[in-house]
Amino acid sequence: MPASLVTVAYLIAGVLFILSLGGLSTQESARRGNVFGIIGMLMAVSVTTLSGRIGNFPVLAATVLVGGSIGATLAARVQMTSMPQLVAVLHSFVGAAAVLVGFATYLDPRAQLTGVEASIHEVEIFVGVLVGAVTFSGSLVAFGKLQGFIGSRPLLLRGRHWANLLMLLGAVYLGTRFVGAPGEGAVMDLGIMTAVAGILGVHLVMAIGGADMPVVVSMLNSYSGWAAAAAGFMLGNDLLIITGALVGSSGAILSYIMCRAMNRSIVSVIFGGFGASEGSAPVKKTGDAAPVGQTVSVTAAETAALLRASKNVIIVPGYGMAVAQAQHPLYEAAKLLRDHGTRVRFAVHPVAGRLPGHMNVLLAEARVPYDIVFEMEEINEDFPETDTVLIIGANDIVNPGALDDPSSPIFGMPVLEVWKAKISVVMKRSMASGYAGVDNPLFYKEGTRMLFGDAKKNVDAILAELHKSFGAAGTDAPGDAGGGSSAARAAAQL
Ligand code: TAP
Repeated sequence: MPASLVTVAYLIAGVLFILSLGGLSTQESARRGNVFGIIGMLMAVSVTTLSGRIGNFPVLAATVLVGGSIGATLAARVQMTSMPQLVAVLHSFVGAAAVLVGFATYLDPRAQLTGVEASIHEVEIFVGVLVGAVTFSGSLVAFGKLQGFIGSRPLLLRGRHWANLLMLLGAVYLGTRFVGAPGEGAVMDLGIMTAVAGILGVHLVMAIGGADMPVVVSMLNSYSGWAAAAAGFMLGNDLLIITGALVGSSGAILSYIMCRAMNRSIVSVIFGGFGASEGSAPVKKTGDAAPVGQTVSVTAAETAALLRASKNVIIVPGYGMAVAQAQHPLYEAAKLLRDHGTRVRFAVHPVAGRLPGHMNVLLAEARVPYDIVFEMEEINEDFPETDTVLIIGANDIVNPGALDDPSSPIFGMPVLEVWKAKISVVMKRSMASGYAGVDNPLFYKEGTRMLFGDAKKNVDAILAELHKSFGAAGTDAPGDAGGGSSAARAAAQL
């Protein structure tokens, strides 16, 4: 294929990637954005294959076939709740690829560069391997933390910032030895730097607490983009540079937005945990904090009666809704209430679930209309005028300790202020803590009711009760709870 055609095709693919990112910015256009991305990527891979720079087609075909089959199988099988782990592993592949490309380009016997050109190329290799190694090892640790192999508490070693600085300076020193010094010594320097960068990646991510993992995943996404861009420089591939820069900068912007939503400083998230003292060790993920206080339980029938008696309802979905896959019956229940005149809205916290936009995806899958789904800042002031809040499998994102307990590891993170409503019903299976491993004072508040059990089973039961009650009472106005003792009790509570 002529070089000019390759350049034009790369340019078009680059534009498609930009359109793809633009499309992904709203739910309505996300599908279109994905289609642009797929076309762009197909174009990029085909054009690169036919560009004349690839000689060994059988090897390429075999690797694409094996890698593609593994990737497709994993993606088809992965549970929505395990998506962040998959993303973390994929980031580690990008990091590993950058490291391997770096070594391969350096050791390539066909390399003909001399003088300044050779030095620039060596700097590209060095930076690519450095970023790639940090991304690789950091992403593996992130995978371990998200999967629960590694405790979610930050590992805060004494003098950790000095250790990080020392490793970085050591890497830079090795870089000065590596550039312009051919031979086995230079390969050794590159190898030692790779090991140091690998340890740095492990240490940086180990120091970050569970509640900050969302930011870490998007930071690693950004690193993987820069690693890909560095590989683009090493290989002299413009499209890889453009794509890497797009991923790198969009990941950095997402990290910044998430930090702002969680009221965190991006620098403190990157360079170590917060809210925990130095020397603390990682502990097991769930059930870290023992529950304290008295709770009031309700049944599904009582919850249905409360909803029936409410004029204003807000539903707060969290990670447990994703685990239980309760979004479909939940929307059925919401539709039924809306059809009978109740105002029902969904409130989505920016870090609800386990990946950015997790709840939006699930609600879209259940065909919840976008105009009743609200972001935290759009709806947080409405809780005092709300009769009933249904919290389904959410925990950390509704924890009042984030606002009033400076000793809490999630202190400072804005949360949905559900306790300001008349009644909050918390649906979960036990008193276990959420992802951040902290107890939730919401459970012991006067207006809180606990509905224990699997969220899907309980929503099914609530839906059945609502059908029964609306079927029996016709189309009463909201607030008129109909007959029966639990309905009368519900009306009295509101
Ligand atoms: P969590 O705080 O993790 O709480 C989820 C709750 O769901 C748990 O307390 C659990 O309690 C309950 N649950 C689990 N399975 C259930 C089921 N089948 N039925 C009913 N309940 C079930 O979730 P959240 O409130 O959505 O907060 C998200 C947390 O994850 C934050 O700390 C956030 O920082 C972190 N995080 C977020 C992301 C992104 S990008 N969103 C990425 C990584 C980490 P039981 O076990 O008692 O049922």
